[in-house]
Amino acid sequence: MKTLVINGSPKGGQSNTMKLALAFLDGAGWGDAETIAVADAKIEPCSGCFSCWNKTPGICVVRDEMSEILTKLIAADVIIWAFPLYYFSVPSKLKNLIDRQLPLNLPFMAEGNESGGHPPRRNLSRQRHVVISTCGFWTAKGNYDAVTFMFNRYYGEENCARIFCGQGELFRVPELRGRTNTYLETVRRAGAEFAAGGIGAETDAELAEPLYPREVFEKMADASWNIPKDGESENQPDESLTFTTQMAALYRPDGAERVLEFCYTDIDKTYQILLTPRGAEVIADNFKRYTTKIKTPFSVWRSISRGEISGQDALFRRQYKVFGDFGLMMRWDELFGGSGPQKPVPKNLRCKTNMAVLLAPWIAIWIGAAINPIAGGVAGIIAVASVPLFWLVFSPVIFERISVAAVAGLSLAVLLGADVRVVLPAAYGLFGLMWFAGALTKTPLTAYYSAAGYGGEKAFENSLFMRTNRILTAAWSLLYLVTPIWTYFLMNAAPAYTGLVNAVCTALMGVFTVWFQKWYPARWARGY
Ligand SMILES: Cc1cc2nc3c(=O)[nH]c(=O)nc-3n(C[C@H](O)[C@H](O)[C@H](O)COP(=O)(O)O)c2cc1C
Repeated sequence: MKTLVINGSPKGGQSNTMKLALAFLDGAGWGDAETIAVADAKIEPCSGCFSCWNKTPGICVVRDEMSEILTKLIAADVIIWAFPLYYFSVPSKLKNLIDRQLPLNLPFMAEGNESGGHPPRRNLSRQRHVVISTCGFWTAKGNYDAVTFMFNRYYGEENCARIFCGQGELFRVPELRGRTNTYLETVRRAGAEFAAGGIGAETDAELAEPLYPREVFEKMADASWNIPKDGESENQPDESLTFTTQMAALYRPDGAERVLEFCYTDIDKTYQILLTPRGAEVIADNFKRYTTKIKTPFSVWRSISRGEISGQDALFRRQYKVFGDFGLMMRWDELFGGSGPQKPVPKNLRCKTNMAVLLAPWIAIWIGAAINPIAGGVAGIIAVASVPLFWLVFSPVIFERISVAAVAGLSLAVLLGADVRVVLPAAYGLFGLMWFAGALTKTPLTAYYSAAGYGGEKAFENSLFMRTNRILTAAWSLLYLVTPIWTYFLMNAAPAYTGLVNAVCTALMGVFTVWFQKWYPARWARGY
């Protein structure tokens, strides 16, 4: 299979469109395709002499690189036409190349076509064409009528696949790679599907989705020029203001009113982004009281936005500080991650964990056995037996499997007549040991249960999240390693209250966990 790419962008290797073409080739497995950079090729305009039809049939009298290009065009099985949209059409140098294909046609009028035409000189019906183009407007819709018509008319609609993408300039913005790479993934998939027969309807629909909603894109596009619009101040906006304005454009309102302050320490500039239910606005003076303030070198925040360094890691290494409401930072991706197509949330809850599944068997035996050994043993067995039912809904965690085994053993022990005054403190001790082990493992125990609220398993790469959870797990282990001491005495003095006292301790620990999870990262982010 011979694939030829015609790079029709005057920007050559810097072309936005070529990023799509390369992703397409990659998906199709045609990485070795030859590319003709039209910008560099010496192609004179067609002189309209028709010599290639009458004097030297099939051969152009103009001596330049086009004769070699024609040979390649004839030899190709797939031709990928990659170009930017210029004035709703193709760039002039590419139009030159298209015009110079006249030797490939015969002079006589073709039969059949309603509006006329010239038949091809050679049978090239095996060839398939892919037209890939980016444009500068927010959508491709309505802007490619001329291009679509031209390629369909020349090569036949059934022989042409099309990928038209608006917001093309965003492909060169490193800060937006998160979104543009998702699009390129879809283009890659389109390539694979095309190689296997044809681009599927689902992929086609995804490719037609704008990268960002119109208002988000247009705000970013306007800000990118770094020049004042009519009616705005004559002062040239600087790079940090443009950057902050583009970041603000990505904001997805959630109904709350906030003031987000950026203090760029290395360039001594401060801006506030007023976040309102209607959108975001950047101000450079007349500041309001901030809700959240980020004190960071501009270079650091830009690197984070470009995905060159992780925001979480930079925070952990104290490369920037956050003051005020830290809740905004916890929801950063949701609020500023752009508005690309949302992946549907899987209906199946199995990706989520639930700490009740871990605690239920233990609580059953703790409370039951303190009241009556038989009741405790039976309650423990029932709780353990019902855990697999919860695993149909929630994702199992290794510590739940350990709990099932441990509580099953303890329940059997009390049912077989073991002294409950020994078994119960042992149950607390075992629970504490499990948490102690959980504080030492690569992923601390509580992390499995709090990750869902912090972006899922991605949170395991977040050092601050892991540290917070390691401290919490250690705190739980400490509580339960000392619990056997008072449990032993309570079992002798007031056995019926043992379960109650310890349940209150567990509940208090739960409250502490919820508070600590918020408080500790915020304290770390403030730097003191
Ligand atoms: C001379 C010129 C004309 C353009 N005309 C249009 C146009 O009609 N519609 C549009 O949406 N974008 C237009 N654009 C924007 C480009 O299509 C867009 O920037 C594209 O992503 C550039 O792709 P490239 O990097 O592959 O060259 C034009 C750009 C230039 C320089």
